[in-house]
Amino acid sequence: MAMNETKRVVTIDRHIVDMQAKYPEATGELSKLLYDVALTAKLIDREVSKAGLVDILGLTGEVNVQGEEVQKLDWFANDRFVKSFDHGGQLCVMASEEEEGVIPIPSRFKLGKYVLLYDPLDGSSNIDANVSIGSIFSIYKRKTAEGPGTVEDCVRQGAEQVAAGYVLYGSSTMLVYTTGRGVYCFTLDPSIGEFLLSHNRIQMPKKGKIYSLNEGYRNYLSDGTRRFVEYLQEPDKETGRPYSSRYIGSMVADVHRTLLYGGIFLYPATSKSPKGKLRLMYEANPMAFIVEQAGGMATDGTQRIMDVQASELHERIPVFMGSEEDVKLAMSFEAGER
Ligand code: AHG
Ligand code: MN
Ligand code: MN
Repeated sequence: MAMNETKRVVTIDRHIVDMQAKYPEATGELSKLLYDVALTAKLIDREVSKAGLVDILGLTGEVNVQGEEVQKLDWFANDRFVKSFDHGGQLCVMASEEEEGVIPIPSRFKLGKYVLLYDPLDGSSNIDANVSIGSIFSIYKRKTAEGPGTVEDCVRQGAEQVAAGYVLYGSSTMLVYTTGRGVYCFTLDPSIGEFLLSHNRIQMPKKGKIYSLNEGYRNYLSDGTRRFVEYLQEPDKETGRPYSSRYIGSMVADVHRTLLYGGIFLYPATSKSPKGKLRLMYEANPMAFIVEQAGGMATDGTQRIMDVQASELHERIPVFMGSEEDVKLAMSFEAGER
């Protein structure tokens, strides 16, 4: 491209309209939800980027349902999601990583056929250090026939998701989503307040050179996981180099890098927490949907994450996701085949 040639830009709104037009049966309700995701992302981004400036840092002193300390921005982001989505008329119920039970739609608002699950702020322990954090969302069609949605509408199999994605508040703010027809990434141009298409139909490398896990848990890992990591640390026969280790500690950021560069992100089972740490409904399933749509794999070490039928809202699951060859290799170690 010649220097200074003007590029064509596609806003996320335009992209959603164009995608919807390909499906004459679409009612436009899912599109409205996706618009609201983009708006919510901008509103949370505004607060996240002010975090170092205003007195919003620090802990509220409360403890969330996972037993972790809730930071103020977590609380803000959670409330932002509720207020963005409770009145649109597309949802019958919501559930958040930060709230113990389901979040009903107030009776004064119209009910819709969709269900929204979300992690309002992922990686929140990184906020004070100005390290990337994210939001994760997952959308299903309701299961119950009518009336206010229930827990049954929220506790699902990931394969039933109709849309999912995440927002990454990093050096740029990005929104990545799928409706099961590829993965699209939009970068926020803060000067015009628009998400612009930056990565069209992301496909991840079949094999990478990076592994990502909290190695502090080395002594608590299963034999299979430990041997897998040790294997990656051996020099590659062709390049003479071992895999590189990268761990941000924000799943959204670690998976986003894995999506672009390939490799594997894992939060495995440990002897301290046999189901790992990450939540099936709010973290594992939506990120698994994205990774699979980008040509990667997402398993719990033995089976496909999106095949698991959840049995409770805040269920945890071990996570191995990333490039197909790297995840298959990890699974062969988990199975004791290597
Ligand atoms: P959250 O901030 O929503 O509670 O999630 C944090 C998660 C995830 O983002 C990250 O991958 C993981 O916690 C890091 O955990 P460790 O500190 O145990 O490595
Ligand atoms: Mn999280
Ligand atoms: Mn969170």
